[in-house]
Amino acid sequence: MKNTMLVGGGVGNAVLFSIGRAFIERGNKVLYFAGYKKLNDVFKRTLIENTSSTVVWACEEGLIETSRVQDKSFHSNIVDAMISYQENTSDISLNSIDKIIVIGSDKMMKAVNEVRKTILKPYLKSDHTVISSVNSPMQCMMKEICARCIQRHVKAEEESFVYSCSNQDQNMEFIDFDFLNGRLRQNSLQEKLTAEWIKMCLYT
Ligand code: FES
Repeated sequence: MKNTMLVGGGVGNAVLFSIGRAFIERGNKVLYFAGYKKLNDVFKRTLIENTSSTVVWACEEGLIETSRVQDKSFHSNIVDAMISYQENTSDISLNSIDKIIVIGSDKMMKAVNEVRKTILKPYLKSDHTVISSVNSPMQCMMKEICARCIQRHVKAEEESFVYSCSNQDQNMEFIDFDFLNGRLRQNSLQEKLTAEWIKMCLYT
């Protein structure tokens, strides 16, 4: 049996339901940190509860009410919720976690990676594995053609590159999150134009 920690930010949580369910069905414990900016950003909360052993809710705007005794809730961002959870640990302690899976914005994943290596380091197993889902822009999806999805890794000061369309789930230990942030900014103009088109289609 392996204990897994899922860390989802906003819409990143949509991807974690099926992962949590798969771990639970195999008899593993799942500690699920679900973070949101606003209270009404929360969606499919029953699904999150059904695919986890314990949920730790985090919301920057207010406190999400819990509906199970084992769950926790913090009025904070997800990183501060992880620190607060550690200080008030319940049934699944951080030092029992074998695998961490993180899905969210590049800034959120970077912050989780930093707290994992600093404040929470003494409380985590030294040999835990940690996977991050890299949300790079993608275009051709043909693994090594357009390189829109390329992601820089740094391991022992040596750099290497991964085509994220061939594998989105990458070892967080080596991901260069500043590089990812730069790549995501390349899509900023198209994203703003798309948002304006949707607004116009819906409201005019
Ligand atoms: S999206 Fe084109 S190489 Fe990955």
